Amino acid sequence: MGLLQEKLAKYDLPQQYMAMGVYPYFREIEGKQGTEVNMGGHKVLMFGSNAYTGLTGDERVIEAGIKAMKKYGSGCAGSRFLNGTLDLHVKLEKELAAFVGKEDALCFSTGFTVNSGVIACLTDRNDYIICDDRDHASIVDGRRLSFSQNLKYKHNDMADLEKQLQKCNPDSVKLIIVDGVFSMEGDLANLPEIVRLKHKYNATIMVDEAHGLGVFGKQGRGVCDHFGLTDEIDLIMGTFSKSLASIGGFIAADESIINWLRHTARTYIFSASNTPAATASALEALHIIQNEPERLEALWEATNYALKRFREAGFEIGATESPIIPLYVRDTDKTFMVTKLAFDEGVFINPVIPPACAPQDTLVRVALMATHTKEQIDSAVDKLVKCFKQLEIL
Ligand SMILES: Cc1ncc(COP(=O)(O)O)c(C=O)c1O
Repeated sequence: MGLLQEKLAKYDLPQQYMAMGVYPYFREIEGKQGTEVNMGGHKVLMFGSNAYTGLTGDERVIEAGIKAMKKYGSGCAGSRFLNGTLDLHVKLEKELAAFVGKEDALCFSTGFTVNSGVIACLTDRNDYIICDDRDHASIVDGRRLSFSQNLKYKHNDMADLEKQLQKCNPDSVKLIIVDGVFSMEGDLANLPEIVRLKHKYNATIMVDEAHGLGVFGKQGRGVCDHFGLTDEIDLIMGTFSKSLASIGGFIAADESIINWLRHTARTYIFSASNTPAATASALEALHIIQNEPERLEALWEATNYALKRFREAGFEIGATESPIIPLYVRDTDKTFMVTKLAFDEGVFINPVIPPACAPQDTLVRVALMATHTKEQIDSAVDKLVKCFKQLEIL
């Protein structure tokens, strides 16, 4: 056995959970991802999807993907920089920029590569990147790739953010990066206060709208729009893998920032462009979101109903204000166990353990879609009450 294999063979945590029969990852879904999914020949209620708008199985979105694949082929065989730019990519960029209220936008192949590529190249050695300590892993990796000085503040603690800003050289760029909606806890960044601090310290703000797009603001334009602060936010990032029912991501900003990113972001330049099918499906989803306001209403009706039911049932759900509802367990083994019990009862939810949360904050994450019915929510809440009681978490 080589040294590497010898070292890695010691990593057997997954096998320990498999032996306990509670390993919760890579569960195979045998069809479309709607509010019910087929798994192992059974129907399971899906409360673990990020498809907030419920569009992943929409015939129009699927048809747009098929048509684009027929016209443009299955892939672009190159980077956007060289031979991989389609008129379709440019159309989507223009529409996304207009949708989130910025001058221009760039599409990447995933949301992860937006953050890891954009954050890595925006600022230099003399500048600062300041993050909330619950920011998404892709933001963390972007700042790891940057040569700038990294500062972190306690989750949504504005006094701590101000303390970090005070440490910075006033003449350097100070880039504050936050999730608009925190992906595991469902709470919102305190954008009004962050904007106030931006002005006080001459800082720059980037907001990750992965979980805000299609959910908050007019027509689902995101959390920046929800707070009426779009013009104050310098960079808006989004992904297609959630409300836009596809895969890919984008960054939107003014022309000077986009011009820089277009020619320097390494995950944009040195990676193949998004497939025609994924691009066209995202574009179609974007049109549907704008043309069907009832979808947003249905999402909030389902969300408010679920929030009320979980609260009334006595679950600890933290400070969520979104379709992401964390049910705190605060114990890793029990988090896996309750995920398995729920699955056996026919409810798919996601376990959240470190590094996705602090060790004392493990939880199961319930996520709502516009297409969930009250009956499905009732059924899931009742089953989760049973599972949580069985493990004495509730
Ligand atoms: C807050 C946040 N940012 C970025 C991403 C990455 O997006 P994608 O799935 O498109 O790579 C995610 C996805 O999990 C996310 O939750």
